[in-house]
Amino acid sequence: MCGIVGYVGNKEAQRILLSGLRRLEYRGYDSAGIITAGRNGETLLREKGKVAELDKKVAESEHNDIIGIGHTRWATHGEPSERNAHPHHVGDIYLVHNGIIENYQDLKEVLADRGYEFASETDTEVFTALIDSIYQAQDKKDLHQAVVDSLQMVIGAYGIAVMAKGNLDEIVVARKGSPLVVGVGEEEVFIASDPSALVGHTDQVVYLRDDEVATCSKDGVHLTDATATKVDTVVEKLELDIQAIQKKGYDHFLLKEIFEQPETLRSTLNGRVLKEQDLLRLGGLNMTDDELREVKNVFIIGCGTAYYAGMLASYFIEQFTDDVVIHNAIASELRYRSFNVPENSVALFVSQSGETADTLACLQEMKRRGVKCLGIVNAVGSSIAREVDGGVYVHVGAEISVASTKAFTSQAVAMLLFGLVIAQAKGMSLKELRPYIAELDILPDEIQSTLNSQNEPIKTLAKKYAHYEHALYVGRDSLFPVALEGALKLKEISYIQSEGYAAGELKHGPIALIDDKFFEMAFVSDNWLYEKTMSNIIEMKARGGHIITVTNSEKAIGTEEVVRVDTKLELLAPLIFNVASQLFAYYVAVERGNDVDQPRNLAKSVTVE
Ligand code: AGP
Repeated sequence: MCGIVGYVGNKEAQRILLSGLRRLEYRGYDSAGIITAGRNGETLLREKGKVAELDKKVAESEHNDIIGIGHTRWATHGEPSERNAHPHHVGDIYLVHNGIIENYQDLKEVLADRGYEFASETDTEVFTALIDSIYQAQDKKDLHQAVVDSLQMVIGAYGIAVMAKGNLDEIVVARKGSPLVVGVGEEEVFIASDPSALVGHTDQVVYLRDDEVATCSKDGVHLTDATATKVDTVVEKLELDIQAIQKKGYDHFLLKEIFEQPETLRSTLNGRVLKEQDLLRLGGLNMTDDELREVKNVFIIGCGTAYYAGMLASYFIEQFTDDVVIHNAIASELRYRSFNVPENSVALFVSQSGETADTLACLQEMKRRGVKCLGIVNAVGSSIAREVDGGVYVHVGAEISVASTKAFTSQAVAMLLFGLVIAQAKGMSLKELRPYIAELDILPDEIQSTLNSQNEPIKTLAKKYAHYEHALYVGRDSLFPVALEGALKLKEISYIQSEGYAAGELKHGPIALIDDKFFEMAFVSDNWLYEKTMSNIIEMKARGGHIITVTNSEKAIGTEEVVRVDTKLELLAPLIFNVASQLFAYYVAVERGNDVDQPRNLAKSVTVE
């Protein structure tokens, strides 16, 4: 996934573009570039590495340019380099692109026959040449029409912004599968891949939909469909504020977002769990009580952390439904399987960004099959949020750090709420509902007390284990998804090879791994599975395991380290264990000196397959 920005107005374009790229850098940071134009002509600057590297180049070349586009890249075709960096320039056309053009090789051959030569390995340069070849053939130059005509010939996903040499008035943008939003100001427009880059400039925004093309100028937005037929422009109010996207004194966005969880969870629950009225209310599902009552199968589909949130939610929902079967599915697997969907199914699509390509592809397949599709999404106006039949926004605010934390907690809770709404439609009594409402009501405070009590001890603990290169995370029942998620958190920010496993599976292979190169993280709940899990821990200890046990039990554990989380929660206790696990992963990564918010090789949302 990449970040795109654009500006047309009366202010200094370079400064605005660089500021926008810094806000979007979490989307990809292999290389960055801007093209700006003014009375002195065009200035194209590109650099391998982060926006800070580009910044140095721009500082040496101040211009009073008033139009420009920019890009921060997560490499797909062509290694990270200045040569492969966007914007690409062919003939009169400059272009930045987020997505993949699948038929770019065929197009490249056709364009080479027309005399085009290519300096990079990217599909984007081919896209640029295609638009230029159409633009050059026009008697009367019409950039919008040239873009529309080019889109008839490309296959793939794109969000693009296009400028033409000598045209200081307009930028043409188009989207299919990769997000684009246009901010409308006073005699100026701002273009971005996501609204966080618009904050502080304008709160009037136009979300482009798939197959739409817009010409952006100081006069505003001229929107058409893919046949150049005018489309009504819907201007919406942006709710994000500048505070939401700044670090607020934390060293990293990741720690800020871990500590935000009590507040963001309250935001998820706000207006939905009304303890005094014994009421649970989920607007936006667009499902009648009869439809809810008839639900017999729930598909929970997502990738990475979103998938693990769905796994955890399935353990919650099974506790209070007896005629609902839950199917957890990894989106990148499900989309290529010949899976069956039984009668009375609904499909939940779990996604923080709402842009994950594999999850979106599963949504489109389920819609094709006529399945009721619901989103469990954070990013308002995102592709998944726009394509589902209904859903639950988790409302955790911008999640900037690549590693997802606050979204995980709120996604699991949002799906629990959905499960409770189904159970109520199926006749769950208030008496049965009250214990769940009571747990939800204290969950934010329980997370807060865990953050307050465990932050320093876990910071100390992390320093002791940060030198290991291998880790095994184990848990049973609803702590199994916590083990999987914990291992993912650790591996993606510390680069320690870590694996999550069901504790009961240790003797079926993984226990062979245990030696001094490994440490083990064991999650043990003080419930009916305590003895079973303790026997797994004893098996690992007998083989010299370096075990950290995270538990809500007060019993003697006897491992190398014990992290005691103090919670009154039962069903939702795994969410408390998970907070301890998040803190541990964060402090290990810090101790290892890693770029915690922008880990190597990753991007915040994977909008390509
Ligand atoms: C989580 O820490 C990772 N960054 C990654 O697994 C992420 O959860 C996954 O890519 C899904 O993203 P989404 O929630 O935006 O769809």
